[in-house]
Amino acid sequence: MNTRTGVATVASTDAAREARVAAALALFTPSERAQLLTLRRSLHAHPELSGQERGTQARLVAALAHHGITDVRVIADTGLVATITGTRAGAPVIALRGDMDALPITEETGLPFASQSPGVMHACGHDMHASWAVAAALLLKRNPSEGDVRVILQPAEEVGEGAKSVLASGVLDDVHVIFGGHVDWRFAVGEVVATAGPLAASTDTFEVTFHGRGGHGARPHDTIDPVIGLGAFIMGVQTLVSRRLDPGLPGVVTVGVVQGGNASNVIAELAHCAGTIRATTPESRALLCNGVQALADGVAATHALRAEVQIREGTPPLVNTARAAAWAQAAARRLLGDDSLKTLATANMGGEDFACYTERMEGCFLRVGTWREGRSRSGVHTPRFDPDEDALFVAGALLAECARTASAAR
Ligand code: NI
Repeated sequence: MNTRTGVATVASTDAAREARVAAALALFTPSERAQLLTLRRSLHAHPELSGQERGTQARLVAALAHHGITDVRVIADTGLVATITGTRAGAPVIALRGDMDALPITEETGLPFASQSPGVMHACGHDMHASWAVAAALLLKRNPSEGDVRVILQPAEEVGEGAKSVLASGVLDDVHVIFGGHVDWRFAVGEVVATAGPLAASTDTFEVTFHGRGGHGARPHDTIDPVIGLGAFIMGVQTLVSRRLDPGLPGVVTVGVVQGGNASNVIAELAHCAGTIRATTPESRALLCNGVQALADGVAATHALRAEVQIREGTPPLVNTARAAAWAQAAARRLLGDDSLKTLATANMGGEDFACYTERMEGCFLRVGTWREGRSRSGVHTPRFDPDEDALFVAGALLAECARTASAAR
């Protein structure tokens, strides 16, 4: 590409995107924008860990009330559901979800509204997510969708428990489609990922303990050495992804903990390891989980050990359904233009408990760009994460439009 033309094209694309972002911001009054920023910054300054979001809950109740949204109920202990009544009885009910919890990270942004809670930080942008859910609620209050909208403010996403509690509350039983989103610094403000198919990985964990018979380090023949079994297991478990999984499907098996013995001249009684298993389809998830179990049993048999295996179910793979993704794409095109839709360059192997919803109902989880020229490229879960706040209004407007589009679909 000719460099001069290339620069001009990029500049005009950027200008067009900024114009779309400005139009999305203009859906809010200046006072609404100021209130939403105040909300986001107060959540950011007072982050709370998973399951402890009581102050966050109170701030969100007050913010919703400020915008005239009073049909609000407590769910999942520290969460909330706000209902915005639709214009047509019997129209499909839509849910929008924003999570609320923070991470055990010490903030280093130096922002004026940085965390006032030592060791706790909104480093995953859930302060943005909760605030943009309120933003969507106030737009839907002013310009409702056909069906009722349940705005879910969900606690405990980081520990993979919140979505399960929300589902158990029954508040989603009559919901047809659910939408949610996550900040993403790899995309510019005004850019969105709303693709059908896998968007995040499953997050199961395993613990394997090999029991042997300990003894003197100089007399291995009198013992059954569990460290040998553990070594064979750690090497063998890597072949699940390299030899058993279809190379076209992403997967990860990581051993993150290894423990065995405590003296150089003693053969241990037992040796232990723990790790995480990531997969993007239910089938590959089952293959890897079953593989860990089978390999541990096989290694134990080979080395005359006893294997104790625990596989703890985490969140399932997040798979966006085709119809919900199509509605989200239509909403993004209308609001932000055709150029706004992006795709992930590679599979995302992180977990997201929104997957518990899409396992039960139609849904689409969006990635929402938060980067702007001149901003730091510090990603989520880092002490310097600092998203551009305009993304709050873009996502609020987009989620409201997703709800309108899905509930009007025939
Ligand atoms: Ni997150």
